[in-house]
Amino acid sequence: MKHLLDTQDLSLAEAIEILDTADSMAEVGNREVKKLPALRGRTVVNLFFEDSTRTRISFETAEKRLSADVINFAAKGSSVSKGESLKDTAQTLEAINADAIVIRHPSSGAPERLATSGWISSPVINAGDGMHAHPTQALLDAMTLRQHRSRLTGEPTRGSSLRGMTVAIVGDVLHSRVARSNVWLLSLLGVRVILVSPPTLLPVRIDDWPVEVCYDLDEALTHDLDAIMMLRIQRERMHASFFPSSEEYARMWGLTPERLAYLDGRGAETAILHPGPMNRGLEISAAAADSPRSLVLDQVTNGVSVRMSVLYHLLTGPQGTSDHSAL
Ligand code: NCD
Repeated sequence: MKHLLDTQDLSLAEAIEILDTADSMAEVGNREVKKLPALRGRTVVNLFFEDSTRTRISFETAEKRLSADVINFAAKGSSVSKGESLKDTAQTLEAINADAIVIRHPSSGAPERLATSGWISSPVINAGDGMHAHPTQALLDAMTLRQHRSRLTGEPTRGSSLRGMTVAIVGDVLHSRVARSNVWLLSLLGVRVILVSPPTLLPVRIDDWPVEVCYDLDEALTHDLDAIMMLRIQRERMHASFFPSSEEYARMWGLTPERLAYLDGRGAETAILHPGPMNRGLEISAAAADSPRSLVLDQVTNGVSVRMSVLYHLLTGPQGTSDHSAL
């Protein structure tokens, strides 16, 4: 694995290896001194052409915990806002000898272009490109699901897939790179994935996706769901009206207090996930977001461990080893 562009490129063994290393990295996060020397003397550039809070802070924390030198490059205030192209930016990074590039970009395919153009030689990590992919988000979701299952069964997380779990991904699938990357990764790990969405917010060509589709959230909740992943309504990517009103959306597709009470009444072990930022009162009620079922903050914590793991695998060889003794 030279780059991490999409979860579709991962093998099952690679995915489990990244998750296992992330578990080791999590142990570092619980120490008093939260730092490893693994990337000392290496330079990692965070190239953010699109707004981000969580993902940018998470990558930066991960890089610093591995002792890398970190350069943050936001499109606003850089020459990009003066019209500099991706190619010129990439060549500048190559000239300063960056060891890895983390890129978020509004255009689907920009990270792949960077990785395959020959402009740069360092590994590229996709931190979210347009509506296409967000692989580290899917990996942190998988890590969170693995922990959830381990808490329920008492079985160790390490080495295990997610075989046998059922997860509903609910809401604005059409505009969601989080949903796309999760569909591929979760199905690779053996999860039964149910997409729950209004027909207007579902991509047209999903016949070859390894998913089931349900147009009724209440019906979906009657399945034995191990987790329900609520997606943000991505207004910034909507150029048309996809649902009648916010109230109507919340009533039909939101995780309302009533739906939460239904899960509680059934005694279901359904965990609640959301990639953030949350629109409280729209796709998720405050009651759901703050309930004991919510693993939203675990997702944020796990994001750092997963990104440490990905950087570690891409920047230290030999790739694919299971030797964590140096951590
Ligand atoms: C997601 C993203 O940017 O794709 N958020 C994130 O990475 N924390 C999801 C979203 O914006 O809804």
